[in-house]
Amino acid sequence: MTPQDFIPKREAKNIEAGEATWQSPSNIALVKYWGKKENQIPANPSISFTLNNCKTTTSLKYAKKKAESDPADFSFDFYFEGQSKEDFKPKVLKFFQRIHNYCPYLKEYKFEIHSENSFPHSSGIASSASGMSALALCVMDLEKKLYPDINEDFFNIKTSFLARLGSGSASRSIEGPLVVWGKHEKIKGSSDLFGEKYPDEIHDNFRNYQDTILLVDKGEKQVSSTVGHDLMHEHPFAEQRFKQANDNLNKLIPVLKSGDLSEFIKIIESEALSLHAMMMSSLPYFILMKPNTLEIINKIWSFRKSTDIAVGFTLDAGANVHVLYPENQKDKVLEFIKNELVAYCENGQYICDQVGEGAKKIS
Ligand code: DP6
Repeated sequence: MTPQDFIPKREAKNIEAGEATWQSPSNIALVKYWGKKENQIPANPSISFTLNNCKTTTSLKYAKKKAESDPADFSFDFYFEGQSKEDFKPKVLKFFQRIHNYCPYLKEYKFEIHSENSFPHSSGIASSASGMSALALCVMDLEKKLYPDINEDFFNIKTSFLARLGSGSASRSIEGPLVVWGKHEKIKGSSDLFGEKYPDEIHDNFRNYQDTILLVDKGEKQVSSTVGHDLMHEHPFAEQRFKQANDNLNKLIPVLKSGDLSEFIKIIESEALSLHAMMMSSLPYFILMKPNTLEIINKIWSFRKSTDIAVGFTLDAGANVHVLYPENQKDKVLEFIKNELVAYCENGQYICDQVGEGAKKIS
């Protein structure tokens, strides 16, 4: 596939008005995307668990523009949790501008977008993956009405392609349970242009894998992911990091097949700490972990050592800790979290999630 393949070439049906609602989850990367080339092309491949409970629900209402409105403009209103949100509009506008070449019908409509998250707004959880993928799904819902012969494969691939242009990690939220984005020589069908469901064997140990997200710091991040990605351009360790991510994905393939949880934990924890090491060695350097992030990591390590329970962690671009463990250890790990880790969370807050199957249509 090339980007050209996503430009509609046939004649569209005439659709005057309609509405679509989709629910799309967040995801947590096991091998991280950190650094990109032009047009949202990742510097290395990444893989993530699709989540189940942390999600965005978005409705898109559309109606053909009135004759007097400017055909050169995008026309939309955006509401978040029922409130008109002017400060979200630039992000949506940028998304429409980036995808317009592939969705030329966008300027023919006036849109009303309503969006809400299942997780608390200021939880420090990245909402761009679920938010951008939900919006991309709604746009593709309209596209499917305009071109009814679009099949499910193309629908998913193009949705991921569009979501990627909104936010790289959003390309991994359409399907589940594991999605790869970025070309990797050992993973068939993997592409820099869109995320694809992981095609190889996955051991039962990873079925309903648990992710308890400990909310260490619910404040706004000091450095956005987009700025962090940019700092990889002049980064002294960039090439080595991109190689490490490729190697870690290589190592993960047999681990996903064998269910070797001790190797799994080594790979994901190394990825999390390498991601933050990149931030600490960027110029300008920055730190997104908080003292409580480190307290939690140390507690997890000593709990694992003393109990032999396969519990590990990963981090995204923030201070929150994702505690990852198999479903059959759920009771013991939750007890450990309540007894020993909740004290390090802001207002004692955490979110219980697990691996999910991807986005779904609501109406
Ligand atoms: C640390 O997808 O948020 O979560 O493409 O600029 O929107 P943009 O960045 P974004 O970056 C995610 C970074 C990460 C790692 C990951 O999800 O792979």
